Amino acid sequence: MGTLQAVTGMNDVLPGGGDTRRWLRLEAAFRDVCARYGYAEVRTPICEYAELFHRGVGEATDIVEKEMYTFEDRGGRKLSLRPEGTASAVRAAIEHAALAQQPVVRWAYLGPMFRAEKPAKGRYRQFHQVGAEVYGDPSPAADAECIDLAATFIRSLGVGPVSVRLNSLGGADTRRRYRDALVAYFTPLADRLSEESRARLARNPLRILDSKDPRDLPHKAGAPSILDALDDADREHFEQVKAFLTATGVPFTVDPTLVRGLDYYTRTVFEVVDVSGALGAQDALGAGGRYDALFTELGSAQPVPAFGFALGVERLLLAAPDAPEPQRFTVSVVAAAKAGDTPVLAAALGLAKELREAGVETLVDTRFVSMKSQMRRASDAASRYVLILGGDEVAKGEVTLKDLASGEQTRASRAEVIARLRAESSAQGSAPR
Ligand code: HAM
Repeated sequence: MGTLQAVTGMNDVLPGGGDTRRWLRLEAAFRDVCARYGYAEVRTPICEYAELFHRGVGEATDIVEKEMYTFEDRGGRKLSLRPEGTASAVRAAIEHAALAQQPVVRWAYLGPMFRAEKPAKGRYRQFHQVGAEVYGDPSPAADAECIDLAATFIRSLGVGPVSVRLNSLGGADTRRRYRDALVAYFTPLADRLSEESRARLARNPLRILDSKDPRDLPHKAGAPSILDALDDADREHFEQVKAFLTATGVPFTVDPTLVRGLDYYTRTVFEVVDVSGALGAQDALGAGGRYDALFTELGSAQPVPAFGFALGVERLLLAAPDAPEPQRFTVSVVAAAKAGDTPVLAAALGLAKELREAGVETLVDTRFVSMKSQMRRASDAASRYVLILGGDEVAKGEVTLKDLASGEQTRASRAEVIARLRAESSAQGSAPR
């Protein structure tokens, strides 16, 4: 029988080499910055009724057309692993009437998302996002504050340099007019476009502007700009977003070809791109925008203005510098016990438990192996001290304490040793493993 492997495009995160530690640190940093901006964490299930994403993300998007993991459950209901977090969070906000208790709701989330894309560096089938969404605030200042949150978090990770691209897609009327203008412009050129763009011309013409195919590039350049199609209210909103962003000190560039791959956006859209080259082709660290029509689209009786973003965790970690390994305070209990000498090993386990309860990270070797091999393991684990327990120590309620840095050895009562290690350990603090 062959060995089993993880599903293609889905990755393990292992403690060796500090991988898990980097994830935990990123998650802690995200929770910290969200708390400082007033966002509270929401957790939604990783699967939903498929219809949520059909209605929310849009029928004519790549995500819904080709990338969702959709299956029937045992009751014959169609479920999808969530391809993104926004539709789920809005569903939860409506279901739990989150806006009945407060006029503005700020939610943050982190977790796995699933898209059946072709795996590549920075592109996976199970990937992770951290995201934030604000509901109930129509102001362009909310757009700017939320973009600032994303940029501040990215900066805190030491990722960079990055570029924030900004655009406005206007409201539904603007989009309809712009779609017609694009169809009128691209139809006579259809023969010269890539197959994908030709298909998009009928289904989702705005996405032609996303194409990187060399056959499309010259025609894209001459296409009408959505910024010229904005109505007065959209234009005013966009001008104010730019002014507020400038006030928050987030540098940005306006890119009228930024259209996004999800259908729910209205007015502001943005994307943060890593321009260091570390990510190769998958250089979008994250993206988001305003989606004032999604609540009603998903059944809310009241329209609710909304704005949010999501960032790709794997991409942030690829782009972030590796921080130095934090210093940890760890001790090891070594039992001078031969196989069958249960009382000494039991005393060693008891001492380790007491130390752990005192907040000290403690390893104990339970294998009944030689002192020498236990000492080697203690030193491999970078223990600060080794606590040696033999029959004599156990009989007298004492412990022999060896300082692995100086080699110095002392003997003292259990209570004294525990008090000393508790104090040293709490002075040093602890960091994620
Ligand atoms: P999105 O642009 O589809 O937007 O995804 C956001 C980020 O998730 C991307 O910029 C990228 O960093 C990461 N990402 C997407 N797909 C993959 C993948 N296959 N592998 C690795 N990373 C990936 C959204 O998902 C919207 N929900 C953002 C939003 C929130 N808009 C409003 N609120």
